[in-house]
Amino acid sequence: MSKKPEMKKGDPETTGHSWDGIEEFNNPLPRWWLWTFYLCIVWAVGYTIAYPAWPMINSATAGVMGWSTRANVAAAITEVEEANAPINAKLEATELTAISSDAELNSYAVSAGSAVFKTWCAQCHGSGAAGAVGYPNLLDDDWLWGGSIEDIHQTVTAGIRNTENDDARYSEMPAFGRDELLEAAEIDQVVNYVMSLSGEPQDASQVAAGALVFADNCSSCHAEDATGDRTQGAPNLSDAIWLFGGDYAAISESVNNARFGVMPAWSTRLTEAQIRAVSAYVHQLGGGE
Ligand code: HEC
Ligand code: HEC
Repeated sequence: MSKKPEMKKGDPETTGHSWDGIEEFNNPLPRWWLWTFYLCIVWAVGYTIAYPAWPMINSATAGVMGWSTRANVAAAITEVEEANAPINAKLEATELTAISSDAELNSYAVSAGSAVFKTWCAQCHGSGAAGAVGYPNLLDDDWLWGGSIEDIHQTVTAGIRNTENDDARYSEMPAFGRDELLEAAEIDQVVNYVMSLSGEPQDASQVAAGALVFADNCSSCHAEDATGDRTQGAPNLSDAIWLFGGDYAAISESVNNARFGVMPAWSTRLTEAQIRAVSAYVHQLGGGE
């Protein structure tokens, strides 16, 4: 500690604190600072009365101005909906096949449909629509149920094998192994036959017998040449594009226990304009017919 400096007459009052000869004056706060400070307090009280502020057990004080972020979002959504109402009405009134020839309508449908897809379809079909095991790729021109815009619209509206829509697309492959419709040896034969159709490595000695099993048990749905049948959603088995997998284990599982791919109906969840928009979006992805 240094020595306490001497006080001269006329010097301002000090707090008595001193560091290395530097003393702390005991001046009042500047007026402008003090008034700003009081103003802030008044402002804060007014603000908490006007706007939502004080937390309570389940919510917060609402504020006398009635301001709410939720109401703002709702208003913004209503505004966009109102702005889009005429083009949505046009989308609903236009023939499905005519949408793509109206440039403005088509570009609206595709961009609105892309947003619908990312919200409602991407979980199953992938954000880029490339699909996954059991969930078809919507980018290619290999269709289970049909790739015209009308077919896609019907699939999306009613869904597939669900119980919520009476018009859902429906078919059921028998579980040949589980329900003992075929012997294990016959299943082995037909699996090898199916693998031979798309050039998967197979046990060639089983193929001829497998072709007979196929003709008797499978061709009614998958067609004699195994190219499938869209009226039943039976996949083409000759194109090396697989919904559930093309190796021995996956095909054997398909034949033994059958699959039962379900897609929800969208008629109850989306508006007709949204369904048309997402159908137009899927249709233009590359595989549309
Ligand atoms: C809960 C999962 C799920 C969701 C969500 C879903 N799908 Fe599907 N979708 C499927 C399955 C599973 C299939 C195949 C069913 C089968 O095996 O026939 C399918 C099939 C389709 C097909 C038929 C493809 C073809 O080859 O014929 C189209 C088109 C389709 N979905 C579009 C959509 C659109 C558009 C949406 C969003 C509005 C959507 N899906 C949402 C599961 C889903
Ligand atoms: C009643 C019609 C029907 C019959 C009969 C039938 N299938 Fe299927 N099959 C289907 C349907 C429909 C699917 C698609 C299932 C789904 O999408 O959930 C399918 C799917 C498959 C798959 C999966 C294809 C893939 O891409 O992953 C294989 C493999 C298959 N069937 C083989 C056979 C064989 C072999 C037979 C005869 C032993 C047979 N099916 C008989 C209707 C049938």
